[in-house]
Amino acid sequence: MAGLCEGRVVIVTGAGRGLGRAHALAFAAEGAKVVVNDLGVGLDGLPGPDGPAAQVVAEIAALGGQAVAHGGDIATSGGAASLVAAAVDTFGRLDTLVNNAGFLRDRMLVNLDEDDWDAVMRVHLKGHFLPLRSAAAWWRAEAKAGRPVAARVVNTSSGAGLLGSVGQGNYSAAKAGILGLTAVAAQEMGPYGVQVNAIAPAARTRMTERTFAETMAAPGAGGFDAMAPENVSPLVVWLGADASAGVTGRVFEAEGGRITVMEGWRPGPTADRGARWTPAEAGEAAAKLLAAAQAPLPVYGAR
Ligand SMILES: NC(=O)c1ccc[n+]([C@@H]2O[C@H](COP(=O)([O-])OP(=O)(O)OC[C@H]3O[C@@H](n4cnc5c(N)ncnc54)[C@H](O)[C@@H]3O)[C@@H](O)[C@H]2O)c1
Repeated sequence: MAGLCEGRVVIVTGAGRGLGRAHALAFAAEGAKVVVNDLGVGLDGLPGPDGPAAQVVAEIAALGGQAVAHGGDIATSGGAASLVAAAVDTFGRLDTLVNNAGFLRDRMLVNLDEDDWDAVMRVHLKGHFLPLRSAAAWWRAEAKAGRPVAARVVNTSSGAGLLGSVGQGNYSAAKAGILGLTAVAAQEMGPYGVQVNAIAPAARTRMTERTFAETMAAPGAGGFDAMAPENVSPLVVWLGADASAGVTGRVFEAEGGRITVMEGWRPGPTADRGARWTPAEAGEAAAKLLAAAQAPLPVYGAR
């Protein structure tokens, strides 16, 4: 039986370990040719053990698949451009971009250094924008040349971006930014054949295995290992395949055996007096509206 991604060329950023590695292997298992990007940094983004991308390429090859490693930094325009070039030069085309690379610098806001703010915003938010822009340029040129484009982008947000997470102000802001970027990219890139969606995953990786050790723990022998990163990849593969035609601008939570469509901001109780309020009147109106509104879902880690 032909795989879901037979003949497609797929880039996965940060695919040397964790969720990205699981996605790369899952795409290859469905017949895709994969560009495995990873800069090989530590959990905090500082230089770390290198070569994780080459290891995943070897794993894919050992299973009979095709893959190539790319070791560039996706948060630089040169790295993003050479990533798309690696797909086109090696496999002749690009069909799917999975933006996944990133790292953490957790601190309470009062103690958060400017450098740690910048580094996390850079790797997640700019690290989504730059590969997206390079890929978009290639797809738009294909469409202009009259070749059919059925391209897919899967962005990686987080529960921290959806609800906020205590001690992760930089990360939550970057991951919320990715949701806005996804909504705009879906609209702008749709006309030339590109669908753009986002996921908010949860899985046991080096990013979570210590902080959320209990939630992430593997079960005893034989039980369903709900927090294995491989559980998130099937949805990512489908979103990255031709088969997801018509789905764009959406956000999914994916964890264990559960897939949830996230329904975003929409207007709640409202009042319009047709003229300017005084501050006291605005406060009175806001209090009434809040009394009629649903309470927000709790921020992760809120006491
Ligand atoms: N693990 C979870 O539960 C969880 C939850 C929500 C969101 N996420 C998101 O999923 C994605 C993958 O996370 P993970 O848990 O697999 O983490 P991970 O640390 O296992 O993997 C991330 C990979 O990205 C690479 N990377 C970092 N900066 C890079 C750069 N500039 N260029 C290229 N590669 C770079 C790292 O070397 C690493 O291999 C991240 O965006 C993360 O924020 C993870």
